[in-house]
Amino acid sequence: MRAHKDEEDIKRDAENMVEVQDLWFSYDKKKWVLKGVDMKLKRGDKTALVGSTGAGKTTLLLHLNGLLTPDKGKINISGTFLSYNKKALTEVRKRVGIVFQNPNDQIVAPIVFQDVALGPVNLGLTEGEVKERVKRALNEINIEDLRDRKAHELSEGEKKKVAIAGVLAMEPNILVLDEPTSGLDPESSEDLLNTIDSLCEQNDNMSVLAATHDVELAYEWADRVMVMREGEIVKSGEPYAVLGDEAVIKSSRLAMPRVLKIYKGIEMMASENPGMPPKSVEELLKVMRDNLWR
Ligand SMILES: Nc1ncnc2c1ncn2[C@@H]1O[C@H](COP(=O)(O)OP(=O)(O)OP(=O)(O)O)[C@@H](O)[C@H]1O
Ligand SMILES: [Mg+2]
Repeated sequence: MRAHKDEEDIKRDAENMVEVQDLWFSYDKKKWVLKGVDMKLKRGDKTALVGSTGAGKTTLLLHLNGLLTPDKGKINISGTFLSYNKKALTEVRKRVGIVFQNPNDQIVAPIVFQDVALGPVNLGLTEGEVKERVKRALNEINIEDLRDRKAHELSEGEKKKVAIAGVLAMEPNILVLDEPTSGLDPESSEDLLNTIDSLCEQNDNMSVLAATHDVELAYEWADRVMVMREGEIVKSGEPYAVLGDEAVIKSSRLAMPRVLKIYKGIEMMASENPGMPPKSVEELLKVMRDNLWR
């Protein structure tokens, strides 16, 4: 009876594209890697999942399209509880696109074009539609020049971009990225984040979840941040509230974003005019100008 009511509640709650309820998982049936994770992703939100090495971020992400099956708990994607038969898994993988931490786990075809086309081909699209999707995805990631290259000859960063293009070609409305910027140079990282931002702007129905160690990236880019520690989400909310919480940051073996750390110092010095913490160095300099060197 209660389960039925939960289902109804979630269907009504159209704001949440993903809802994870009390998720438990162990690889070896001896040690829990996920210990009762509760998590919601709101429609249109960009969420960062931060946590130290081994916290369980990848394990959680791999549950979101059924690549791992929970030992206990439920996952709701856009109003439907995930089930694990072939048909349901095919459906969920059209909606939830996961970019793996290691691109070598993602790229399977020998030539870049073939690899990016694989998802659209499996969707049963026509040849013209497949070509169009691949062209758009390569263009979004700015790698049209890699189209005919052999995948195994690419650099790690280039492989990462191909893996991301392959997922974008599926046009998922829930985009999940595991360490999206690792292996990319600063300009490519920024391009990727800008691409994600513009995809979100074009499509109100898209949600993005990125797992990362990079607290600077999480702070600047995300609308919401979740901190994972030893298989549990220990805090989630506004980036400044979560990443500015010294106790949570320290106990989770993370570092406070530099901008926030400096701002907290300035706030103490210039406490007459506290406002919203700055998100970037440019905003921080403005706060300093306004408060310290008037
Ligand atoms: N395939 C596997 N088989 C057994 N144990 C695993 C497997 N994958 C991960 N683990 C273990 O599960 C725990 C969580 O790993 P996970 O990869 O989810 O962490 P993570 O937060 O993504 O770490 P990182 O930041 O290093 O990517 C670790 O203790 C890891 O050793
Ligand atoms: Mg990981």
